[in-house]
Amino acid sequence: MKNFEKIIIANWKMQLSTEQSVVLAKELVAQLKDQNLASEKMLVICPDFTSLHAVGAVLEGSGIALGAQDGFYEDKGAFTGQVSLQQLKHLGCEYVILGHSERRALGETDKLVNQKVAKALSLGLTPIICVGETFEQRQEGSKGEVIMRQVYEALQGISISEGQSVIIAYEPVWVIGSGQAISGQEAAETVLMIKQSYVDVMEGENMPALNIIYGGSVDGQNIAQFTRQPNIKGALVGGASLQAASFLAVIKNS
Ligand code: PGA
Repeated sequence: MKNFEKIIIANWKMQLSTEQSVVLAKELVAQLKDQNLASEKMLVICPDFTSLHAVGAVLEGSGIALGAQDGFYEDKGAFTGQVSLQQLKHLGCEYVILGHSERRALGETDKLVNQKVAKALSLGLTPIICVGETFEQRQEGSKGEVIMRQVYEALQGISISEGQSVIIAYEPVWVIGSGQAISGQEAAETVLMIKQSYVDVMEGENMPALNIIYGGSVDGQNIAQFTRQPNIKGALVGGASLQAASFLAVIKNS
């Protein structure tokens, strides 16, 4: 991954048909070109699996990278319903979201996230590892412990080669899709904790650039409160990435 000033990642989840995804991707490519925004910031779009091929064709040569929302660590075999990271790589993906809280809620474990991170890196894909506490964990006072464990388990035993990079997205689970983001200051404090956990798990060795981003109800109005924090490199955007105007506002104000 090149060294960009900001990283803005769109997570389209399971919200759009392939047709709608293609229309939105075309609109974004055209408007970003008009406004010359694509070259300054690292932009990644993560459509659903069925739309990856068609959206990838639209993004080609645009400077916007393609990402997937998950991927399986085995290359091939009897794994009904899985899509391998290798298949995603062949489709042109450069990034992959791993351990999103919506997947963890469906049973994704820290161990699976770890296996997927290892495989993604071995294929030259940049993993976007999602960590974050639920409302209950926050109320119990275990936020720090939960996040440190998620970072540790996702990265233990993993070596990151020169030139590769890892993105960690701090996403407080209770804020996702709520329309109410946390404060920039709280995000910045948590990001420092994530940074320390990264240093601990990597044992101070072999530590290529770690980019930490924030996610959870990011929009054009609140993005700057996160990106002006020195340790927050960008954002993972769900709802506000589903329309060209709202996503462009996030990009412009980041
Ligand atoms: P949101 O989703 O922006 O709609 O809160 C973010 C995410 O789940 O990555």
